[in-house]
Amino acid sequence: MAGSKFLDNLIAGSSEQIQDVRQHIELAAPYPVNVLAVGPTGSGKELIAKGIHKLSGRKGNFVAVNSAAIPSELLEAELFGYEKGSFTGADKARKGKVEEAAAGTLFLDEIGDMPFSLQAKLLRVLETKTVQKIGSEKSIPVDFRLVCATHTDIGDLARQGKFRADLLYRIAVYTIENPPLSDRTEDLEELITVLSMRLKKTEKKILPASFDPEAMGFLRAYSWPGNIRELANFLQKCSVLFSGQTLGVDEIKPLMPNFETGEVSEIAQASLWDVVGQTAINDIPVSTGALAKEKGDFAEYFAENQPLNLNEFISNIEKTLITTALEHANGGVEKAAQNLGLKQSELSEKIEFYGVIRKSYKSKS
Ligand SMILES: Nc1ncnc2c1ncn2[C@@H]1O[C@H](COP(=O)(O)OP(=O)(O)OP(=O)(O)O)[C@@H](O)[C@H]1O
Ligand SMILES: [Mg+2]
Repeated sequence: MAGSKFLDNLIAGSSEQIQDVRQHIELAAPYPVNVLAVGPTGSGKELIAKGIHKLSGRKGNFVAVNSAAIPSELLEAELFGYEKGSFTGADKARKGKVEEAAAGTLFLDEIGDMPFSLQAKLLRVLETKTVQKIGSEKSIPVDFRLVCATHTDIGDLARQGKFRADLLYRIAVYTIENPPLSDRTEDLEELITVLSMRLKKTEKKILPASFDPEAMGFLRAYSWPGNIRELANFLQKCSVLFSGQTLGVDEIKPLMPNFETGEVSEIAQASLWDVVGQTAINDIPVSTGALAKEKGDFAEYFAENQPLNLNEFISNIEKTLITTALEHANGGVEKAAQNLGLKQSELSEKIEFYGVIRKSYKSKS
């Protein structure tokens, strides 16, 4: 499809989710529909806007305004411009960003943070396709493509009355959702390659660091709350400290926030539970050798989702089995202990240890 090479370079990744994002950009770009890019921080919402602009073929500028970064009293002047003398300090007239985006694309980042009063003015601009500078009576026709972005649930803001629903319908004609990085860890290696190449171009004095397979496993299992921006910063930090070197777990460990807590992504946890669901839990009553018999499934897990916090994982299994046994025994500790092959006192100790379970069943046992 035309334009896809440009998009492949702009937005790296081969996962189904990111292919969908690129496809939506290609579908929406040629039409004059307002696009809303949603997704968590650092996931590439601005790249969606740039992709739309480029593929729309519009010859004007790509003009970005961040509603969250500009104090609300200045945002109106920034967007719509002003005439000389219209307020203190306006010593000469200035064009607003809306006018600067004429024949191009206006990207309104963090639209959810736009003050309510300004939302009405923006709605008017969208409806009339004209803009009025502060202190002017004249309406200037403007032709711009609008792309907005938000990391907050703007629909929820609208339901709470904090965002104008009529504006939301206008700006979100076509919504493109950016997945968090933890939902597409299969893209991690490709992203590291692309970001390393970018780093090489911009930081002439350092060589990108790379990672051994064990370290890659840890990177895949990390939850990346700051998404691709966090990954880019992490790569930069590694490359500054270990220019051109291949790093192992020992080197990256101190550089990874939350590493010590052994935090693994929910996805990794979920797929681990899948493996356990198919093997351990189903087979435990049959024989304790069942786990070993099915260890191929675990090997697959480790290939995809390292690492595993064994203690936490075993505790989770234990908690789940105890909860299930108690439920099955209608809260009876004696019967649950029999089903678990434990002495009643052992089960009581474990219920005590996992306080939460004890609380749920205390009244019944
Ligand atoms: N798929 C991707 N391929 C390559 N680089 C990416 C990708 N997604 C994001 N980036 C890079 O990650 C950084 C963050 O992206 P961007 O600014 O578009 O995120 P954002 O969603 O707008 O973040 P925020 O919500 O914090 O404004 C940028 O440097 C961008 O170039
Ligand atoms: Mg952004």
